[in-house]
Amino acid sequence: MAQFTVDSDVVRTSPDQIATALADPGFGRYFVDHIARAVWNPDEGWHGRRLIGAGPIPMHPGLAALHYGQEIFEGLKAYRHPDGSVWLFRPELNARRFASSAERMAMPQLPVDDFLDSVHQVVSLNKDWVPAGQGEQSLYVRPFMFGSETLIGVRTAQEHTYMCLASPAGPYYADPLTLWVTPNFSRSMVGGTGMAKCGGNYASAMAAEVEAHAQGCGQVLWLDSATRTLVEEGGTMNFFVVTADDELLTPALTGTILAGITRDSLLQLASSHGLTPVERPLELTELLDGIRSGHITEALACGTAAVISPVVGLKSPDFELTIGDGTPGPRTLELRSHLTGIQFGTLPDAFGWLRPV
Ligand code: PLP
Ligand code: COI
Repeated sequence: MAQFTVDSDVVRTSPDQIATALADPGFGRYFVDHIARAVWNPDEGWHGRRLIGAGPIPMHPGLAALHYGQEIFEGLKAYRHPDGSVWLFRPELNARRFASSAERMAMPQLPVDDFLDSVHQVVSLNKDWVPAGQGEQSLYVRPFMFGSETLIGVRTAQEHTYMCLASPAGPYYADPLTLWVTPNFSRSMVGGTGMAKCGGNYASAMAAEVEAHAQGCGQVLWLDSATRTLVEEGGTMNFFVVTADDELLTPALTGTILAGITRDSLLQLASSHGLTPVERPLELTELLDGIRSGHITEALACGTAAVISPVVGLKSPDFELTIGDGTPGPRTLELRSHLTGIQFGTLPDAFGWLRPV
């Protein structure tokens, strides 16, 4: 594995300024000092692996990614434990998903070791930026890659740039969510890019997010585009329900849904909360009927940024439903405490998910 080498002239933010940022980090409001970069072209493959100062990057207005959206990204977090140590959560899964997103977008795959080394070094060099774990704050790490050839013709770019940023962050959604089921838009289709983590998925979802916010909803709950009868996922999160017969049920991965790492983790934690993990197609009518009859007792949405957000309502032009009594459900809160307890080092890591930095 080729190592990322550290530039010697990176300017470090003062401890006082870091303390001010960590007092109220928001999400993506502040960025760390060292970021990673590597470049690919067909002749040299991956090269130029460096840790450079965060700041503007020069680009030609003809940059391929600006025109045709050849871009992918990942999201993972570094957590500070009570003894001050810093840990990553299942980063190899992000590395593998990044490679499969690249494959779908006809982009070069960054070797898993390069992904892991860059993430590790970005966190390690910026350790002072990892907040103390109280308030569930952490350092959000954002690896991404884009077509960086200057190119107006439509073909896959012959130069790609990989970068990895990081930003101190609290949970993305402060309050329990009501989700909007849009009658107007779709996120993903069979054969499309729904299972890839590419910027285009989020770009095409913005209009529905605007609609959701106008309706007083925090996010969209997407349906399958072919039949609009199956529940898929939230715009930034996977979706789960808890049933009265103790199932923790989430839509099966069909190629149109992102295979969330939090999703996979919750499925593995279910049994220690007396829940049976179930992955299968979930009909919208089953969801609505289950909420009305009380068979579905809780709903939640999960992701790295969102952590576990209780879902307390659903809305569309055809229905407006409260889930349970409209407050976060007990199983949701238990699962959330368990997952964050592992991540922040206050509960045992029985599955061996954490990696030291
Ligand atoms: N689905 C979408 C569309 C997302 O953007 C995310 C966030 O990364 C997730 C699901 C959850 O994935 P993960 O748990 O790996 O963060
Ligand atoms: C993440 O949870 O890492 C995401 O990518 C969601 C993001 C779009 C805020």
